[in-house]
Amino acid sequence: MRGTQLPVVTNLYSSRERVADIAGAGDDTFCRRWSELVSRAADSQGAAIATVERPTTLVAGKLSDLPLLTYHAKDAGPYFTSAIYLAKHPDTGTPNLSFHRSMYVSDSELRVRLGDTHNLAAYYRAAEARDEPLEAVLLLGAAPEIFMGACASIPEGASELDLAATLAGTAIASYQGTTVDLPVPASSQVVVEGRFLPHERRSEGPFGEFLGYYVPEAENPVFEVTAVYWQPDAVFHSILCGSAEDHVPMQAVNAAKTFAHLDARLPGILDVSCAPGFMNTTIRIRQAYEGHARQVLLAAFSADMDYNKLCIVVDEDDDPADIAAAIRAFVNRGRVDHRVMVIDDVPGFYRDPHRDHWGRVGIDATRPFGRSDEFVKKSIPGVEDIDPDDYL
Ligand SMILES: Cc1cc2nc3c(=O)[nH]c(=O)nc-3n(C[C@H](O)[C@H](O)[C@H](O)COP(=O)(O)O)c2cc1C
Repeated sequence: MRGTQLPVVTNLYSSRERVADIAGAGDDTFCRRWSELVSRAADSQGAAIATVERPTTLVAGKLSDLPLLTYHAKDAGPYFTSAIYLAKHPDTGTPNLSFHRSMYVSDSELRVRLGDTHNLAAYYRAAEARDEPLEAVLLLGAAPEIFMGACASIPEGASELDLAATLAGTAIASYQGTTVDLPVPASSQVVVEGRFLPHERRSEGPFGEFLGYYVPEAENPVFEVTAVYWQPDAVFHSILCGSAEDHVPMQAVNAAKTFAHLDARLPGILDVSCAPGFMNTTIRIRQAYEGHARQVLLAAFSADMDYNKLCIVVDEDDDPADIAAAIRAFVNRGRVDHRVMVIDDVPGFYRDPHRDHWGRVGIDATRPFGRSDEFVKKSIPGVEDIDPDDYL
Protein backbone atom coordinates (compact mmCIF):
# COMPACT_ATOMS: atom_id res chain seq x y z
CA MET A 1 0.00 0.00 0.00
CA ARG A 2 1.33 3.45 -0.93
CA GLY A 3 2.95 5.35 1.94
CA THR A 4 3.45 2.34 4.21
CA GLN A 5 5.92 -0.48 4.39
CA LEU A 6 3.37 -3.29 4.63
CA PRO A 7 0.77 -4.71 2.27
CA VAL A 8 -2.81 -4.62 3.59
CA VAL A 9 -5.25 -7.53 3.56
CA THR A 10 -8.95 -7.51 4.45
CA ASN A 11 -12.04 -9.76 4.26
CA LEU A 12 -10.26 -12.85 5.57
CA TYR A 13 -13.10 -14.07 7.78
CA SER A 14 -16.21 -12.91 5.93
CA SER A 15 -18.03 -16.17 5.26
CA ARG A 16 -19.86 -18.61 7.52
CA GLU A 17 -18.22 -21.48 5.62
CA ARG A 18 -14.72 -20.18 6.42
CA VAL A 19 -15.52 -19.72 10.11
CA ALA A 20 -17.11 -23.18 10.31
CA ASP A 21 -14.09 -24.62 8.54
CA ILE A 22 -11.68 -23.08 11.07
CA ALA A 23 -13.69 -24.68 13.85
CA GLY A 24 -13.73 -28.02 12.04
CA ALA A 25 -17.52 -27.86 11.77
CA GLY A 26 -20.09 -28.25 9.03
CA ASP A 27 -22.14 -25.15 8.23
CA ASP A 28 -25.06 -26.04 10.50
CA THR A 29 -23.04 -27.78 13.22
CA PHE A 30 -20.88 -24.82 14.20
CA CYS A 31 -22.76 -24.13 17.45
CA ARG A 32 -22.45 -27.66 18.80
CA ARG A 33 -18.80 -27.97 17.71
CA TRP A 34 -17.85 -24.60 19.23
CA SER A 35 -19.59 -25.46 22.52
CA GLU A 36 -17.57 -28.70 22.68
CA LEU A 37 -14.33 -26.79 22.01
CA VAL A 38 -15.13 -24.30 24.79
CA SER A 39 -15.78 -27.08 27.33
CA ARG A 40 -12.66 -28.99 26.26
CA ALA A 41 -10.60 -25.81 26.62
CA ALA A 42 -12.02 -25.24 30.12
CA ASP A 43 -10.75 -28.74 31.10
CA SER A 44 -7.32 -28.35 29.49
CA GLN A 45 -5.91 -26.20 32.34
CA GLY A 46 -3.21 -24.04 30.86
CA ALA A 47 -1.26 -26.31 28.49
CA ALA A 48 -1.71 -23.72 25.77
CA ILE A 49 1.79 -22.32 25.23
CA ALA A 50 4.86 -23.89 23.64
CA THR A 51 7.73 -21.48 24.26
CA VAL A 52 9.99 -20.86 21.25
CA GLU A 53 13.02 -18.63 20.62
CA ARG A 54 12.18 -15.10 19.57
CA PRO A 55 13.06 -14.90 15.85
CA THR A 56 16.06 -12.69 15.14
CA THR A 57 14.50 -11.63 11.83
CA LEU A 58 11.70 -9.54 13.38
CA VAL A 59 11.77 -5.96 12.12
CA ALA A 60 11.62 -3.24 14.77
CA GLY A 61 9.79 -0.03 13.92
CA LYS A 62 7.19 2.43 15.14
CA LEU A 63 3.41 2.71 14.91
CA SER A 64 3.58 5.30 12.15
CA ASP A 65 5.43 2.81 9.92
CA LEU A 66 2.21 0.76 9.85
CA PRO A 67 -0.73 1.49 7.55
CA LEU A 68 -2.66 4.24 9.38
CA LEU A 69 -6.17 3.85 8.01
CA THR A 70 -9.09 6.21 8.60
CA TYR A 71 -12.29 4.33 7.77
CA HIS A 72 -15.33 6.61 7.98
CA ALA A 73 -16.18 10.24 7.20
CA LYS A 74 -16.46 11.32 10.84
CA ASP A 75 -13.84 9.09 12.47
CA ALA A 76 -11.57 11.03 14.82
CA GLY A 77 -8.46 9.64 13.12
CA PRO A 78 -6.74 6.44 12.02
CA TYR A 79 -7.69 3.23 13.82
CA PHE A 80 -6.27 -0.25 14.23
CA THR A 81 -9.43 -2.33 13.81
CA SER A 82 -8.05 -5.87 13.80
CA ALA A 83 -6.52 -5.12 17.20
CA ILE A 84 -6.40 -8.26 19.36
CA TYR A 85 -5.18 -7.62 22.91
CA LEU A 86 -3.57 -10.41 24.90
CA ALA A 87 -3.31 -9.69 28.64
CA LYS A 88 -3.18 -11.62 31.89
CA HIS A 89 -5.42 -11.00 34.88
CA PRO A 90 -3.24 -9.17 37.46
CA ASP A 91 -4.48 -11.40 40.32
CA THR A 92 -5.11 -14.80 38.75
CA GLY A 93 -2.80 -14.72 35.70
CA THR A 94 -5.59 -16.02 33.43
CA PRO A 95 -4.84 -14.93 29.84
CA ASN A 96 -7.51 -13.21 27.77
CA LEU A 97 -7.80 -12.44 24.07
CA SER A 98 -10.19 -9.78 22.78
CA PHE A 99 -10.58 -7.19 20.05
CA HIS A 100 -10.59 -3.53 20.99
CA ARG A 101 -10.47 -0.82 18.39
CA SER A 102 -7.48 1.42 18.95
CA MET A 103 -7.14 5.04 17.87
CA TYR A 104 -3.70 6.11 16.75
CA VAL A 105 -2.61 9.28 18.54
CA SER A 106 1.20 9.16 18.31
CA ASP A 107 3.99 6.61 18.11
CA SER A 108 3.78 6.18 21.88
CA GLU A 109 0.00 6.36 22.40
CA LEU A 110 -3.18 4.53 21.44
CA ARG A 111 -6.61 5.19 22.94
CA VAL A 112 -8.68 2.10 23.31
CA ARG A 113 -12.36 1.27 23.73
CA LEU A 114 -12.73 -1.36 26.49
CA GLY A 115 -16.41 -2.31 26.67
CA ASP A 116 -17.45 -2.47 30.34
CA THR A 117 -18.73 -6.04 30.23
CA HIS A 118 -15.61 -7.44 28.55
CA ASN A 119 -12.83 -9.24 30.40
CA LEU A 120 -10.08 -6.80 29.45
CA ALA A 121 -12.06 -4.03 31.18
CA ALA A 122 -12.24 -6.23 34.32
CA TYR A 123 -8.48 -6.91 34.09
CA TYR A 124 -7.84 -3.18 33.75
CA ARG A 125 -10.03 -2.42 36.80
CA ALA A 126 -8.09 -5.09 38.78
CA ALA A 127 -4.77 -3.45 37.78
CA GLU A 128 -6.12 -0.02 38.71
CA ALA A 129 -7.17 -1.36 42.12
CA ARG A 130 -3.44 -2.05 42.67
CA ASP A 131 -2.50 1.35 41.18
CA GLU A 132 -0.54 -0.52 38.52
CA PRO A 133 -0.50 -0.41 34.72
CA LEU A 134 -1.88 -3.43 32.85
CA GLU A 135 0.63 -4.92 30.41
CA ALA A 136 -0.72 -6.18 27.09
CA VAL A 137 0.40 -7.15 23.61
CA LEU A 138 -1.59 -6.00 20.63
CA LEU A 139 -1.58 -8.56 17.82
CA LEU A 140 -2.40 -7.37 14.29
CA GLY A 141 -2.82 -10.29 11.93
CA ALA A 142 -2.80 -13.41 14.08
CA ALA A 143 -3.45 -17.05 13.21
CA PRO A 144 -7.13 -18.09 12.76
CA GLU A 145 -7.25 -19.81 16.16
CA ILE A 146 -6.12 -16.59 17.87
CA PHE A 147 -8.65 -14.60 15.83
CA MET A 148 -11.51 -16.91 16.82
CA GLY A 149 -10.31 -17.07 20.45
CA ALA A 150 -10.47 -13.27 20.55
CA CYS A 151 -14.07 -13.31 19.26
CA ALA A 152 -15.07 -15.72 22.01
CA SER A 153 -16.55 -14.75 25.31
CA ILE A 154 -16.03 -17.72 27.61
CA PRO A 155 -16.74 -18.14 31.33
CA GLU A 156 -14.58 -16.03 33.63
CA GLY A 157 -11.53 -17.92 34.83
CA ALA A 158 -11.19 -19.93 31.60
CA SER A 159 -8.34 -19.00 29.25
CA GLU A 160 -8.93 -17.98 25.63
CA LEU A 161 -5.35 -19.07 24.87
CA ASP A 162 -6.43 -22.56 25.95
CA LEU A 163 -9.39 -22.20 23.61
CA ALA A 164 -7.09 -21.13 20.75
CA ALA A 165 -4.81 -24.12 21.42
CA THR A 166 -7.79 -26.49 21.55
CA LEU A 167 -8.97 -25.09 18.25
CA ALA A 168 -5.52 -25.43 16.67
CA GLY A 169 -5.12 -28.93 18.11
CA THR A 170 -1.66 -27.99 19.41
CA ALA A 171 -0.01 -25.59 21.86
CA ILE A 172 0.43 -22.02 20.60
CA ALA A 173 4.10 -21.45 19.71
CA SER A 174 4.99 -18.23 21.50
CA TYR A 175 8.09 -16.25 22.37
CA GLN A 176 8.61 -13.93 25.30
CA GLY A 177 7.73 -10.25 24.86
CA THR A 178 10.64 -7.81 24.90
CA THR A 179 9.20 -5.11 27.19
CA VAL A 180 6.28 -6.99 28.76
CA ASP A 181 6.04 -10.22 30.71
CA LEU A 182 3.68 -11.88 28.23
CA PRO A 183 3.92 -14.61 25.60
CA VAL A 184 3.66 -13.40 22.01
CA PRO A 185 2.08 -15.93 19.59
CA ALA A 186 4.77 -16.47 16.96
CA SER A 187 2.21 -16.41 14.13
CA SER A 188 1.45 -12.71 14.78
CA GLN A 189 2.26 -10.60 11.75
CA VAL A 190 2.59 -7.30 13.63
CA VAL A 191 3.05 -6.90 17.39
CA VAL A 192 2.65 -3.81 19.55
CA GLU A 193 3.74 -4.16 23.17
CA GLY A 194 2.67 -1.75 25.85
CA ARG A 195 0.62 -1.05 28.95
CA PHE A 196 -2.69 0.51 29.88
CA LEU A 197 -2.00 3.45 32.16
CA PRO A 198 -3.88 3.31 35.47
CA HIS A 199 -6.38 6.06 36.33
CA GLU A 200 -5.89 7.74 32.96
CA ARG A 201 -8.67 8.42 30.44
CA ARG A 202 -8.38 10.52 27.32
CA SER A 203 -10.70 11.46 24.48
CA GLU A 204 -11.34 8.70 21.91
CA GLY A 205 -13.73 8.74 18.94
CA PRO A 206 -16.06 9.40 17.25
CA PHE A 207 -15.80 6.14 15.33
CA GLY A 208 -18.15 4.45 12.83
CA GLU A 209 -19.10 1.24 14.61
CA PHE A 210 -20.64 -2.20 14.06
CA LEU A 211 -24.23 -1.02 14.59
CA GLY A 212 -23.84 1.25 11.57
CA TYR A 213 -23.62 4.58 13.43
CA TYR A 214 -20.91 6.67 15.00
CA VAL A 215 -20.02 6.08 18.63
CA PRO A 216 -19.53 9.58 20.04
CA GLU A 217 -16.28 10.83 21.50
CA ALA A 218 -15.72 9.48 25.03
CA GLU A 219 -13.03 9.27 27.69
CA ASN A 220 -11.28 5.93 27.25
CA PRO A 221 -8.14 4.11 28.46
CA VAL A 222 -4.69 4.99 27.18
CA PHE A 223 -2.26 2.35 25.90
CA GLU A 224 1.37 3.42 26.18
CA VAL A 225 3.39 1.74 23.43
CA THR A 226 6.75 0.27 24.46
CA ALA A 227 7.75 -1.75 21.34
CA VAL A 228 6.55 -2.32 17.77
CA TYR A 229 7.83 -5.05 15.45
CA TRP A 230 6.70 -7.29 12.64
CA GLN A 231 7.66 -10.33 10.64
CA PRO A 232 9.96 -9.61 7.65
CA ASP A 233 7.20 -10.52 5.18
CA ALA A 234 4.34 -9.24 7.34
CA VAL A 235 0.90 -8.45 5.96
CA PHE A 236 -1.26 -5.92 7.81
CA HIS A 237 -4.81 -7.02 8.61
CA SER A 238 -7.50 -4.35 8.31
CA ILE A 239 -11.15 -4.97 9.26
CA LEU A 240 -13.90 -2.63 8.12
CA CYS A 241 -16.09 -2.29 11.18
CA GLY A 242 -19.64 -3.44 10.43
CA SER A 243 -18.55 -5.48 7.39
CA ALA A 244 -19.17 -9.21 7.02
CA GLU A 245 -15.69 -9.86 8.38
CA ASP A 246 -16.55 -7.92 11.53
CA HIS A 247 -19.96 -9.58 11.92
CA VAL A 248 -19.76 -13.19 10.77
CA PRO A 249 -17.20 -14.59 13.26
CA MET A 250 -18.71 -12.74 16.23
CA GLN A 251 -22.21 -13.80 15.21
CA ALA A 252 -21.03 -17.39 15.08
CA VAL A 253 -19.49 -17.44 18.56
CA ASN A 254 -22.36 -15.45 20.09
CA ALA A 255 -24.82 -17.90 18.55
CA ALA A 256 -22.80 -20.79 20.00
CA LYS A 257 -22.90 -19.17 23.44
CA THR A 258 -26.72 -18.99 23.30
CA PHE A 259 -26.85 -22.53 21.91
CA ALA A 260 -24.82 -23.92 24.84
CA HIS A 261 -27.01 -22.06 27.35
CA LEU A 262 -30.24 -23.39 25.80
CA ASP A 263 -28.95 -26.89 25.12
CA ALA A 264 -28.06 -27.29 28.81
CA ARG A 265 -31.62 -26.43 29.85
CA LEU A 266 -34.15 -27.47 27.23
CA PRO A 267 -34.73 -30.33 24.79
CA GLY A 268 -34.82 -30.05 21.03
CA ILE A 269 -32.30 -27.21 20.51
CA LEU A 270 -30.87 -27.75 17.01
CA ASP A 271 -29.07 -24.59 15.92
CA VAL A 272 -28.79 -20.85 16.62
CA SER A 273 -27.92 -17.94 14.36
CA CYS A 274 -27.34 -14.26 15.08
CA ALA A 275 -27.41 -13.25 11.39
CA PRO A 276 -27.85 -10.64 10.06
CA GLY A 277 -26.95 -8.48 13.09
CA PHE A 278 -25.87 -8.98 16.67
CA MET A 279 -28.92 -7.86 18.56
CA ASN A 280 -31.10 -10.59 17.05
CA THR A 281 -30.93 -14.34 17.66
CA THR A 282 -32.88 -17.05 15.85
CA ILE A 283 -33.18 -20.51 17.36
CA ARG A 284 -34.08 -23.64 15.41
CA ILE A 285 -35.87 -26.27 17.51
CA ARG A 286 -37.57 -29.64 17.22
CA GLN A 287 -40.85 -28.92 19.00
CA ALA A 288 -41.51 -31.43 21.77
CA TYR A 289 -44.57 -30.05 23.58
CA GLU A 290 -47.03 -27.17 23.51
CA GLY A 291 -45.38 -23.96 24.72
CA HIS A 292 -41.86 -25.29 24.04
CA ALA A 293 -40.97 -22.32 21.82
CA ARG A 294 -42.06 -19.84 24.50
CA GLN A 295 -39.82 -21.52 27.07
CA VAL A 296 -36.94 -21.34 24.59
CA LEU A 297 -37.59 -17.61 24.19
CA LEU A 298 -37.50 -17.02 27.95
CA ALA A 299 -34.22 -18.91 28.27
CA ALA A 300 -32.71 -17.17 25.23
CA PHE A 301 -33.25 -13.74 26.79
CA SER A 302 -30.95 -14.67 29.65
CA ALA A 303 -28.30 -16.39 27.49
CA ASP A 304 -26.57 -13.10 26.71
CA MET A 305 -27.09 -9.83 28.56
CA ASP A 306 -25.81 -7.66 25.70
CA TYR A 307 -27.10 -9.02 22.44
CA ASN A 308 -30.27 -11.16 22.58
CA LYS A 309 -32.63 -8.23 22.12
CA LEU A 310 -34.89 -9.83 19.50
CA CYS A 311 -35.21 -13.62 19.73
CA ILE A 312 -37.11 -15.74 17.22
CA VAL A 313 -37.83 -19.47 17.39
CA VAL A 314 -38.29 -21.44 14.17
CA ASP A 315 -38.97 -25.08 13.32
CA GLU A 316 -36.48 -27.79 12.43
CA ASP A 317 -36.97 -27.41 8.65
CA ASP A 318 -36.27 -23.64 8.78
CA ASP A 319 -32.90 -21.96 8.23
CA PRO A 320 -32.20 -19.80 11.32
CA ALA A 321 -29.83 -17.60 9.28
CA ASP A 322 -32.70 -16.55 7.00
CA ILE A 323 -34.45 -13.89 9.03
CA ALA A 324 -36.77 -12.94 6.15
CA ALA A 325 -38.04 -16.53 6.09
CA ALA A 326 -38.45 -16.43 9.88
CA ILE A 327 -40.65 -13.33 9.66
CA ARG A 328 -42.66 -14.97 6.86
CA ALA A 329 -43.13 -18.03 9.06
CA PHE A 330 -44.25 -15.83 11.95
CA VAL A 331 -46.92 -14.00 9.98
CA ASN A 332 -48.14 -17.06 8.06
CA ARG A 333 -48.26 -19.72 10.78
CA GLY A 334 -50.58 -18.24 13.36
CA ARG A 335 -51.84 -15.23 15.33
CA VAL A 336 -49.25 -12.51 15.59
CA ASP A 337 -50.83 -11.11 18.75
CA HIS A 338 -50.44 -14.40 20.63
CA ARG A 339 -46.95 -15.22 19.47
CA VAL A 340 -45.00 -12.15 20.52
CA MET A 341 -43.50 -11.82 23.97
CA VAL A 342 -42.48 -8.35 25.13
CA ILE A 343 -40.33 -7.97 28.22
CA ASP A 344 -40.31 -4.32 29.27
CA ASP A 345 -37.55 -2.37 30.90
CA VAL A 346 -34.68 -4.87 30.99
CA PRO A 347 -31.18 -3.45 30.47
CA GLY A 348 -29.36 -4.68 27.38
CA PHE A 349 -26.21 -3.67 25.50
CA TYR A 350 -23.77 -2.12 27.96
CA ARG A 351 -23.12 1.11 26.08
CA ASP A 352 -26.57 2.63 26.34
CA PRO A 353 -26.88 5.99 28.13
CA HIS A 354 -30.42 6.58 26.80
CA ARG A 355 -31.69 2.99 27.35
CA ASP A 356 -32.16 2.51 23.61
CA HIS A 357 -31.26 -1.16 24.02
CA TRP A 358 -33.56 -1.87 26.97
CA GLY A 359 -36.37 -4.41 26.66
CA ARG A 360 -36.60 -7.76 24.91
CA VAL A 361 -38.93 -9.04 22.20
CA GLY A 362 -39.50 -12.71 21.48
CA ILE A 363 -41.28 -14.13 18.47
CA ASP A 364 -42.62 -17.66 18.17
CA ALA A 365 -42.46 -18.39 14.44
CA THR A 366 -42.96 -22.15 14.81
CA ARG A 367 -45.99 -24.04 13.56
CA PRO A 368 -48.85 -24.49 16.06
CA PHE A 369 -47.95 -27.57 18.11
CA GLY A 370 -49.63 -30.73 16.84
CA ARG A 371 -50.81 -29.11 13.60
CA SER A 372 -47.68 -29.52 11.48
CA ASP A 373 -49.70 -31.47 8.86
CA GLU A 374 -51.50 -28.22 8.03
CA PHE A 375 -48.21 -26.39 7.45
CA VAL A 376 -46.25 -28.73 5.20
CA LYS A 377 -43.93 -26.63 3.02
CA LYS A 378 -45.19 -26.98 -0.53
CA SER A 379 -42.91 -28.35 -3.19
CA ILE A 380 -43.03 -29.03 -6.92
CA PRO A 381 -42.09 -32.61 -7.75
CA GLY A 382 -39.11 -32.95 -10.09
CA VAL A 383 -38.48 -29.20 -10.25
CA GLU A 384 -34.74 -29.67 -9.92
CA ASP A 385 -34.70 -31.88 -13.01
CA ILE A 386 -36.54 -29.41 -15.25
CA ASP A 387 -34.47 -28.15 -18.19
CA PRO A 388 -35.98 -24.97 -19.73
CA ASP A 389 -34.52 -26.03 -23.11
CA ASP A 390 -37.01 -28.92 -23.17
CA TYR A 391 -39.85 -26.39 -23.28
CA LEU A 392 -38.60 -23.28 -25.03
C1 LIG B 1 -13.31 -6.67 14.77
C2 LIG B 1 -13.84 -6.52 16.17
C3 LIG B 1 -13.72 -5.31 16.83
C4 LIG B 1 -14.18 -5.16 18.13
N1 LIG B 1 -14.00 -3.97 18.78
C5 LIG B 1 -14.34 -3.85 20.08
C6 LIG B 1 -14.06 -2.64 20.77
O1 LIG B 1 -13.57 -1.67 20.22
N2 LIG B 1 -14.37 -2.59 22.08
C7 LIG B 1 -14.94 -3.64 22.74
O2 LIG B 1 -15.16 -3.56 23.94
N3 LIG B 1 -15.23 -4.80 22.10
C8 LIG B 1 -14.93 -4.92 20.78
N4 LIG B 1 -15.20 -6.09 20.12
C9 LIG B 1 -15.89 -7.17 20.84
C10 LIG B 1 -15.02 -7.97 21.78
O3 LIG B 1 -13.68 -8.03 21.39
C11 LIG B 1 -15.55 -9.39 21.89
O4 LIG B 1 -16.88 -9.33 22.36
C12 LIG B 1 -14.73 -10.30 22.75
O5 LIG B 1 -15.30 -11.59 22.71
C13 LIG B 1 -14.70 -9.87 24.18
O6 LIG B 1 -13.89 -10.81 24.82
P1 LIG B 1 -14.01 -11.23 26.35
O7 LIG B 1 -15.35 -11.87 26.54
O8 LIG B 1 -12.89 -12.15 26.50
O9 LIG B 1 -13.91 -10.01 27.15
C14 LIG B 1 -14.79 -6.25 18.79
C15 LIG B 1 -14.93 -7.47 18.13
C16 LIG B 1 -14.47 -7.60 16.82
C17 LIG B 1 -14.62 -8.93 16.12
